[in-house]
Amino acid sequence: MGILIKNGTVVNADGSKKTDVLIDGEKIAKVGDKINATGHTTVDATDLLVMPGGIDVHTHLDMPFGGTVSADDYTTGTQAAAVGGTTMLIDFALQSQGRTMREAYDTWRKKSDNKACIDFSLHMAVTDLGPGDGSQGLREMEEMVAEGVSSFKLFMAYPGVLMIDDGLMFKVMQKAAKLNALCCIHAENGSAIDIVVAQMLAEGKTAPHYHALSRSPKAEAEATHRAIALADMAGAAVYIVHLSNAYALDELKHLQERGAKALAETCTQYLVLSIEDQMPGKSWDEAKFVFTPPLREKWNQKVLWQALTDGSLVVVSTDHCPFRFADQKSLGRGNFSKIPNGGPGVENRLQILWHYGVNGGWFTQEKFVDLCCTAPARVFGMEKQKGSIKEGLDADILIWDPNAEYTISAATQRMATDYSMFEGWTVKGNAAKVISRGELVVDNSTKPGKFLGTTGRGRFVKREANAGGMV
Ligand code: URP
Ligand code: ZN
Ligand code: ZN
Ligand code: ZN
Repeated sequence: MGILIKNGTVVNADGSKKTDVLIDGEKIAKVGDKINATGHTTVDATDLLVMPGGIDVHTHLDMPFGGTVSADDYTTGTQAAAVGGTTMLIDFALQSQGRTMREAYDTWRKKSDNKACIDFSLHMAVTDLGPGDGSQGLREMEEMVAEGVSSFKLFMAYPGVLMIDDGLMFKVMQKAAKLNALCCIHAENGSAIDIVVAQMLAEGKTAPHYHALSRSPKAEAEATHRAIALADMAGAAVYIVHLSNAYALDELKHLQERGAKALAETCTQYLVLSIEDQMPGKSWDEAKFVFTPPLREKWNQKVLWQALTDGSLVVVSTDHCPFRFADQKSLGRGNFSKIPNGGPGVENRLQILWHYGVNGGWFTQEKFVDLCCTAPARVFGMEKQKGSIKEGLDADILIWDPNAEYTISAATQRMATDYSMFEGWTVKGNAAKVISRGELVVDNSTKPGKFLGTTGRGRFVKREANAGGMV
């Protein structure tokens, strides 16, 4: 019982081959030529590519933020991910200041269990180590790692809400080093940015594009340097999330050259959207593009694409954090700092990366698989389970049609927002069929945009502590 995928080209990060794939139950049973198996459903993948399902390591589902809650819950968010070819995501549990990590973990498992439609895991965002010397919080970090939460998120922005100071960050890093856990950092100098925000508002600069102007690329670069330098002192492995600009990249690269255990991702939006094109300062519509870090000047895009090709950036995620334009982004009319930060992207990551990255000549189909599937699995401690088409791994498989043309629109998307950041863009290359742990959950070739599995079938994935794959 299972699925036999015939006549496709299997694409892994280390090479492509025209061959068959046999799925038994939830696992890949065999990869090889001319497989004959009885009692299996045959899927003909002639002219199609057979890749590992996408892994998006940076999403915010059902997250309280900016005076509201992100628009996708674990059901709509994971269904949207699946329709776009993603079969696994890692979301963030946010510890509230004065509360425990355990409480945050339980809260996020309540949001996700029985609702997730694909497999998922959690990073723990640490905001507090508890009273005194922090030993209670440091013990909780051990518990988290034992339960498969092997990455900790630290915010250097959003003072008064999520930001922690350098001392707390350093303590967490020292502990993470002992545990082989990975520290994921939102790197922006939140204190400096808050001063600029207050000054702008006092000058009557309230429109959405001031969000972008208030968050200098240099504030990101400064924090990127500081985070990596502190992690290096602590002996910890560090992963900079949503790196958005060339100055921050310079910091990453020069510290990597000096031997720091530092990795970084960028996100789809920074590769294809820019402040000039999306936020020229003319209309309220630009609130759709208020996310953090903000859009940058267009010249940064080339630098980021180049960094993906030369290996200084290792992963592309989405930072999917959706808010509706009509009734959520509107909280910031007249004051850009009150616009809930974030954009919807989990459904479109693979389409955009394929169209602009592979069709655009930046990299090969194998590199695409590496950036979207294999490196995310390795960096986040689940390569023995996911991220490649290999015997024994979970049968999370994306059957990709490189010739399918698709026009992105809010009218047809699964994400629960009333707009798309890529409205009207036509891309070539789209998910044809998506298999999650051996089950066909999306068939865009016959039932476009529909999730075919049951709600709640997604499972929590325990991840190994492997210091981002750098040990
Ligand atoms: O604008 C964003 N990215 N919102 C989500 C929180 C974060 O900083 O990642
Ligand atoms: Zn962030
Ligand atoms: Zn530096
Ligand atoms: Zn984020």
